[in-house]
Amino acid sequence: MSGHGTPIPMTSHACGPLTGQADVPGDKSISHRSLILGALSVGETKITGLLEGEDVLDTAKAMRAFGAEVERDDEGTWRVHGVGVGGFAEPDQVIDCGNSGTGVRLIMGAMATSPITATFTGDASLNKRPMARVTDPLALFGAQAVGRSGGRLPMTIVGASDPIPVNYDVPVPSAQVKSAVLLAGLNAPGETVVTEREATRDHTERMLVGFGAEISTEVTNAGRIITLKGQPELKPQTIVVPRDPSSAAFPVCAALITEGSDVLVPNIGLNPTRAGLFTTLREMGADLTYENQREEGGEPVADLRARFSPNLKGIEVPPDRAASMIDEYPVLSVVAAFAEGKTEMRGVKELRVKESDRIDAMAVGLRACDVEVEEGEDWWIVHGRGHGNVPGGATCASHLDHRIAMSFMVLGMATQRPVTVDDGGPIATSFPIFETLMADLGADIRRG
Ligand code: S3P
Repeated sequence: MSGHGTPIPMTSHACGPLTGQADVPGDKSISHRSLILGALSVGETKITGLLEGEDVLDTAKAMRAFGAEVERDDEGTWRVHGVGVGGFAEPDQVIDCGNSGTGVRLIMGAMATSPITATFTGDASLNKRPMARVTDPLALFGAQAVGRSGGRLPMTIVGASDPIPVNYDVPVPSAQVKSAVLLAGLNAPGETVVTEREATRDHTERMLVGFGAEISTEVTNAGRIITLKGQPELKPQTIVVPRDPSSAAFPVCAALITEGSDVLVPNIGLNPTRAGLFTTLREMGADLTYENQREEGGEPVADLRARFSPNLKGIEVPPDRAASMIDEYPVLSVVAAFAEGKTEMRGVKELRVKESDRIDAMAVGLRACDVEVEEGEDWWIVHGRGHGNVPGGATCASHLDHRIAMSFMVLGMATQRPVTVDDGGPIATSFPIFETLMADLGADIRRG
């Protein structure tokens, strides 16, 4: 896939209360990892609750191209018959990862220490994103990469035939880079050590434990030091993918800004490396409660209840919280528009290299809707107008970015005039049921 086809404009009109239950899809990060680790195990991994968004489907196709058997039994229910660590076959076609940075970076890591060559490409958004952050550490294992200028896709990786283990300090807060190094380390002899200064999502580490790898994490003043023993035989698993907190963010935020709303979003993982948005919203005065708090599969889980919150206040979001809510800043900026006072978001340079430059994409669209936004390289400030006072009325560009498209749709639910996105097609990459789920709650989103 090299684009999303014909653009699908969508317009969100002000709506009545949002009410009911929002069953959001499976976690995107965990879905990618389930397929990849399943492919690297010997035997059959069973997955339920897999996100069937385009990003994950592209990873499923890629795993087949590397020799794994990947079968869909039913909605969200998949089986992966893996080839084992070091067992990847050389694909005979280019691997198209569509829109997915997670897919391409993790797969590059997983194949980089096998004696095979693979060429990767993606859509117009993915082909602009930096890959050197992954190919630099993969070179230390002995893999070679040749891509376009600026380390961009399309790119060919020649895997190391005699890989050596690596000791790597991740220079940017990125779970994708950390995970690529760990997946490469699986097929290197000896110990691969990864240090990250800021804690990023730890699904790869948790899942590797489940698959039987020897992996440990030490929390020190220098950050988290993760040590992986190479060349394990990974054991197939039965995986129940939890629902995605990053998708839950949309109905939660929509309910907070839409008068009279009361929405329950059940079964959401509150892993501290993912739950920063919910903490932030509560600090802003959101009526957001955690019901039925429990542990599932070693992860804290709760049902989230979000109610209309007319008295939201702008806050300064602590920069050290950024990694735990990195995908949620676009929709937070929408909530901030309805708060009193300013919301300051700092230490968020990474937002500029996501599916789009998310600071720029949101700032331009919010300004077009008459919301004041200031920005610098690694910060931005949204000046809230308070409930009922956000004009809206603009057409905003989604830049092939699902989260930008969904954020503007949430904005339009409570603005004075409707908000349009030029292309809502990318929403299918992570949240294919977004339109029906929001309509069932009472939203008024129309195509065209
Ligand atoms: C992800 C890591 C994050 C996040 C992305 C998913 C992952 O990217 O933005 O949506 O599953 O590892 P970075 O590693 O670039 O921070």
